[in-house]
Amino acid sequence: MLILEKREIPVLRRALLAVPPPPTTFSRKWFSDALFSVVIYFDSQKIKKIKMSEYEMIRSPSTDKGIVIKDEWPGYDLDLFTYPEHYHGDLENIYIPHGVIMDRTECLARLVVDDTDDNYMVALCVLKGGYKFCSDLVECIKSVSCNTPKHMTVRVEFIRLKSYLNDQSSEDIQIIGPEDLSVITGKNVLIVEGIVDTGKTMKALLKHVQTFQPKKVKVAGLLVKRVPNVVAKLPDYVGFVIPNRFVVGYALDYNEYFRDLNHICVISDEGKMKYKV
Ligand code: HPA
Ligand code: MG
Repeated sequence: MLILEKREIPVLRRALLAVPPPPTTFSRKWFSDALFSVVIYFDSQKIKKIKMSEYEMIRSPSTDKGIVIKDEWPGYDLDLFTYPEHYHGDLENIYIPHGVIMDRTECLARLVVDDTDDNYMVALCVLKGGYKFCSDLVECIKSVSCNTPKHMTVRVEFIRLKSYLNDQSSEDIQIIGPEDLSVITGKNVLIVEGIVDTGKTMKALLKHVQTFQPKKVKVAGLLVKRVPNVVAKLPDYVGFVIPNRFVVGYALDYNEYFRDLNHICVISDEGKMKYKV
């Protein structure tokens, strides 16, 4: 917040003259650039209104590392939301309601559009857990960018990875999908994952993707789990950072169940028993 004394208002007026006009749609980048101009001007007038460290926090999209959900978060009581009848008894709580996922996805779409220097992008959807997030993210990218000079054409490709049985990760990661990913050669690629934990699958996938010589590769992960022995860097766009708990819903499964649940939930012990293989 910028708190001005009365005598400083003319300084703000002069500072605002240096701010470029806003684009047709109000973007986070324009706002942060505008704020930067104002801060620099105040600084040049020896009026220290905002410390640069605070400014960095506001300005840089790279500081958005996701909404952090603490270990103690108990989730919402199941009675506060609706969910399919066939999962009654199988869930412990609603961990992230569907509406919150959608709002966060729109935010990530804005970051993606702001960061992109091209009107064309290939979204590489990691199946099956990433299909809902990918579909909603691509829709948001299109709606955020339409009617702006950055209107985006997004081609969607799919790749399938498998490494989990019950709630345990197995060591070997299978990449099942198109052998030929040459559509990404020379293109901006956005890998879209539902959940990232140790990053082993992501590391294997990035290596595979790089063999097709894309122009630039970014990763969007709706959920990132706080787990030990992480082998990959954080995705470029993170929806939520969650504790090391097994979650289901919004396309994330437990032995293929719960993909049809809209909220992200924690499975109950009864649910684990019922769908165990
Ligand atoms: N839920 C579903 N699939 C997953 C998870 C999870 O918590 N972690 C890795 N794959
Ligand atoms: Mg799975």
